[in-house]
Amino acid sequence: MIILGIETSCDETALAILECSGGIASPRFKILKEAVASQVAIHRPFGGVVPNLAKREHLANLPVLERQIFGTGATAEKLWKKIDTIAVTVGPGLEPALWAGITFAQELAKKHKKTLIGANHLEGHLYSFLLPGTTGRRPGTPLSKILPAAALIVSGGHTILLRVQNLKKWKRLGETRDDAVGEAFDKVARLLDLPYPGGPALSRLAESGRQGAIEFPQPMLHTRDYDFSFSGLKTAVLYYLKNNPKADKADVATAFEHAATGVLATKAFRAAKEIGARSILLSGGVAANTRLRRHIGAAARKLGVAFLVAPRRYNTDNAVMIAAAGYMSLLRGKKLPLRAKGQLAI
Ligand code: KG4
Ligand code: ZN
Repeated sequence: MIILGIETSCDETALAILECSGGIASPRFKILKEAVASQVAIHRPFGGVVPNLAKREHLANLPVLERQIFGTGATAEKLWKKIDTIAVTVGPGLEPALWAGITFAQELAKKHKKTLIGANHLEGHLYSFLLPGTTGRRPGTPLSKILPAAALIVSGGHTILLRVQNLKKWKRLGETRDDAVGEAFDKVARLLDLPYPGGPALSRLAESGRQGAIEFPQPMLHTRDYDFSFSGLKTAVLYYLKNNPKADKADVATAFEHAATGVLATKAFRAAKEIGARSILLSGGVAANTRLRRHIGAAARKLGVAFLVAPRRYNTDNAVMIAAAGYMSLLRGKKLPLRAKGQLAI
């Protein structure tokens, strides 16, 4: 089955075409085409994503990406003939941005007489371990060696820990009670005068900081639940900078990153142990963070379980994971209404 995925939930406009096979027992994905247009430069002067600007940019970028992927004339027609269905992100995300993708997908579906299905952005992140190039899984490894799993989804809007029983069934173990971890990275980056998007910039700065020079509290590390909290950590950084105006910013970045990623790894470790997981799955934009990958990798080794994470370009928002989530929705017989739902849950 060939699926065109469309993603516009935040500040990346993305299209991808995937060949999907294997069914629910062992889904396989071959990436045929992919294109992403980042809006980083547009939002940078504002220090964050401006929803209506994002919508305008998506509307401008979508036809450009379509041409980039399909070409024109006979080439485009030939490729369109191969497409079986279109999958578009319906949530969660910024509603004006989501609508840009949904209306564009509806126009394409009508013009080319294709079916259209809604995809859940968080399911896209969750299923990203099924994509080609994932570390920790050799091609052909059966799912029975991976599941049940403890899955951590860490992005700009979410911090969720799940127990994944199989590809159809999971349970929420815990989540953040305030800021998402990506949001905390972005806010702390701003405190350090780093440019938007803060996460990657902070992470680069943290590479040159001295480990242990400063220590920040690890919020909720010792609570028995699987919830997280990151706003107190951000406030701790704020006060530290106020009281130590001459502080080495790289040391501050290292200490923040160490505290934030350490608590994520500790809770993922505990969850994996308690549920008898065969693996830990890591996804979402913050999964691109090297220190987090290192911490979780160490936790998984200590437990003797696998650690799976998709290549970095499929951690941050992309349409490859959306086409994959669309395929999984079809297999599960799940139909999402084609309406933007900002708070759609996983
Ligand atoms: O999944 P994603 O691309 O978009 C959402 O669904 O939110 O995640 C974006 C988040 C942002 O907060 C960004 O700062 C963070 O992921 N991020 C990182 C890194 N790369 C992206 N945070 C820490 N280290 C990184 N290398
Ligand atoms: Zn995302």
